[in-house]
Amino acid sequence: MIYARIAGTGSFLPGEPVSNDDLVKRGIDTSDEWIVSRSGIRSRHLAAADMGASDLARVAAERAIEAAGCEPEDIDLIIVATSTPDYIFPSTAALVQSKLGIRNGGAAFDVQAVCSGFIYALSVAEKFIRSGSNKRALVIGAEVFSRILDWSDRGTCVLFGDGAGAVVLEASERPGILASALHADGSHHPILCVPGGVASGQVIGDPFLRMDGQAVFKFAVKVLGDVANEVLDAAGVQASSIDWLIPHQANIRIIQATAKRLGVPMERVVTTLDHHGNTSAASIPLALDEAVRTRLLRPGHRIVLEGVGGGFTWGAALIDF
Ligand code: UT7
Repeated sequence: MIYARIAGTGSFLPGEPVSNDDLVKRGIDTSDEWIVSRSGIRSRHLAAADMGASDLARVAAERAIEAAGCEPEDIDLIIVATSTPDYIFPSTAALVQSKLGIRNGGAAFDVQAVCSGFIYALSVAEKFIRSGSNKRALVIGAEVFSRILDWSDRGTCVLFGDGAGAVVLEASERPGILASALHADGSHHPILCVPGGVASGQVIGDPFLRMDGQAVFKFAVKVLGDVANEVLDAAGVQASSIDWLIPHQANIRIIQATAKRLGVPMERVVTTLDHHGNTSAASIPLALDEAVRTRLLRPGHRIVLEGVGGGFTWGAALIDF
C-alpha cells in the first residue's frame, strides 16, 4: 500500500511586521485594543509591490525542500493554493516551478478554494501520490491578500496579511495522511467574496474583499467542528488522542470556539495568527511550519489541520507527522 507523508515544511513572511498601531499611524480608524480583542491579531506582513505570490511561495518551497532533504528535481508535482495569483495565467504553480529551476517537470497547477485552499491542495496531492502516479509533491499555500483589501474598510483590512507556507509530501510505506474531507456550499458565496471579474482589459465589478463578518464567524465555527469530527470518525480516532490541532489562522475567537466544540484544550492548539493575521491559504502551512521549527510538533505526533473559506469551502486532514 502507498501512503503520503509530510517529509518537510517551510514558510516565508515578507518584510517587517506591521503592527496594529502602525495601521492607526497610516490613518485607519481603528485601535490595537479593538483588533486584538476581536481577532487576536497584533501584526501582519505586507509584501512589497514587486513581490507576487510566486515569490513568497518560492522561498517557502525552498525551505520545505531543504527540510525534506531532497532537491527541486525530485519534485514531480506542484500544487499552489492561492486566491491572489501573480497573473490570470500562467498558474502560480508553473511560475514556482520555473523559479525553482525545474525543467520538464511533472504537473503544476493552482487550486482556488480561498482559506481552505491548502487543505484542498494537500488532499489532491495525497490522491495523486496514493494512486502511484507521483512520488514527491510540493504543496504550497501562498497569498498577497493585501492586494485585494479595501484599505478604507476597517472591518476587513485589519484582519489579513501576506505570506506563504509549503510542505513536501512524499510516497511512503507508513501512513501519514490518515483521513481527509473536503466540502463546499456555493450558496453562501455572498458572505465572503471579491465580486469582480476581468474583461476587455478592465476589472468589471468590485475588486476588493467583502465580508459579512458575523455570518462568516457563525458558519466557520459550525463547519470547522463538524469536519474535524468527520476525519476523526473516518479514522476511528478520538479527539483526546490528538497532539495538535492546527486550524486556519483567521480569528482567535473562532479557533477557541472550535477547540471547545471538539474538546481539545487550547494548550494543544497551534496559534500563530497574532503575528501574521489571516493569510488565507497560507495560514495553515505557516502555522504548521512554525510548530515544527519551534519543536512543538515532533515526528510521531498526530495532528488535525482544518480550514474554512470563501465559496464557502471547508475541509480537514488527520495526519501522523
Ligand atoms: O477566513 C475567514 C475570514 N473571516 C473571518 O475570520 C471573520 C469572522 N468574523 C469576525 O471575526 C468578526 O465578525 C469581526 C472581527 C470581523 C468583527 O467583529 P464583530 O464583533 O462581529 O464586530 P462588528 O462587525 O459587529 O462591529 C462592531 C463595531 C461596529 O461599530 P458600531 O456599529 O457598533 O458602532 C464597527 O463599525 O466595531 C466597529 N468596527 C471597528 N472598530 C474599530 C469594525 N471594524 C473596526 C475596526 N476598528 N477595525
